[in-house]
Amino acid sequence: MRKLLPKKRFVQSDAYKKATKYNKTIYTEFGTRAHTDPSRGFFSRLVSSILPTDMTDNNFNNVIHVNGQLFAACETTLSLGVNLCCSHPVTDRDGSVYTLGVTFIPGFRYQVNRIPPAPAAANGKQAFAGAQRLLSMPSSWTTAYSYYHSFGVTDSYIVLLELPLLLVLSKVMTMVVKGLALKDCIEWHPEHRVKVHVLHKADGKLVKTKYITDVPFFQTHVCNAFEEDGTVMLDLITSEGPSVMEAYFLDKLREGKLYNEHTMRVTRLAIPVLEDLKTAPENVNLVGSDSTRAQAVRRGDTVTLSLDLFPEEGAEYPTINPAVRGRPYRYLYATGGFEQGPFRSAVGKLDTHSRTWQFWRGEEGTFPSEATFVARPGGGGAAEDAGVLLTALLGAGRRPDRLMVLDAGQMEPLACVEFQSRVPVMVHGTWVPTEITSEADGGEGK
Ligand SMILES: [Fe+2]
Repeated sequence: MRKLLPKKRFVQSDAYKKATKYNKTIYTEFGTRAHTDPSRGFFSRLVSSILPTDMTDNNFNNVIHVNGQLFAACETTLSLGVNLCCSHPVTDRDGSVYTLGVTFIPGFRYQVNRIPPAPAAANGKQAFAGAQRLLSMPSSWTTAYSYYHSFGVTDSYIVLLELPLLLVLSKVMTMVVKGLALKDCIEWHPEHRVKVHVLHKADGKLVKTKYITDVPFFQTHVCNAFEEDGTVMLDLITSEGPSVMEAYFLDKLREGKLYNEHTMRVTRLAIPVLEDLKTAPENVNLVGSDSTRAQAVRRGDTVTLSLDLFPEEGAEYPTINPAVRGRPYRYLYATGGFEQGPFRSAVGKLDTHSRTWQFWRGEEGTFPSEATFVARPGGGGAAEDAGVLLTALLGAGRRPDRLMVLDAGQMEPLACVEFQSRVPVMVHGTWVPTEITSEADGGEGK
């Protein structure tokens, strides 16, 4: 018998330290407002209340690798000169890490940064050495910017979406004074659709063609992105509206309300890369691939994209074999979080070729976390689904919390580890395959 030793700790962020010291939130968080920081002088407090540049570092959403170091990430600051960074930086197969962020002053601008691969860094700052700004692009709305959570990266391109879920400048600039949380600064504008931007990964230059979707939608996670015959395929988790963001509010959880008005599903966009739009015919589908039902039609100076919705509602937290990230792939895995539909208590495997799902389902009332794919060791050249899925199966107080190890090929359990202590609600997970250092461990290998 082998032992598995669980450990858990709070991220020792400024936000956490100050909140526990003063028993109130000092920084503006997504769901909670900021309070006056007693440790700061009058003028410092005045400036920070007028200019929301002093953002939270409460990185609770994800754990990422950058050059041999582990970092916690969320829509917060991330040592790259941006005000808000996204939760899902993308690690390329060459070890480069791409991030998406936004700056507030002067005006809202999206920024894409690239952190080059480097020998294992000795500390956090070194991990970001050599970071370059690939893109700085103004928001399409001068008085707002689009909420973003993730973006797509292929071998040659990066794809950004501007959702009609807007953080409004007038609210952001006064949120501290008015006592607003970040969620109070967000407005859903379904009268707009989704603007899609494609840029070259090599130099950050934008593809000049304007792309817009035929319907509005909300998007959380990118499953994968890849190129096929001059078209970028972008697989996403989308829904008709943003109600899923409310599912994690404490009042709803405490009431046991596990219902979303808008359920999430796997969706594919097909984006033909057109440097010179005039060469493309109008009013015909520009997507030549038979691997998708998504269409792209040029009308005047814009290409309109229609969505290819895969079967089954409720899919969230997509994961893939990292070896196929940015490349054509077949399988993705998803769990449903608090969903009560087909993904209730389940981990699903989607065959994107046959468009069919295969499920492993836990007992009623259990909640699997994001499944993390771990490839079979030494499995070079093995099947894409040769490996295991790791998921924390929460028992919600009625059953022990467990770590499930599922065979990703057969979607059957291989092992189950029961924890005697409680495991907090988990969102994303990361597999650390080798010894790695973190500053929280004093630089000691774990
Ligand atoms: Fe996420």
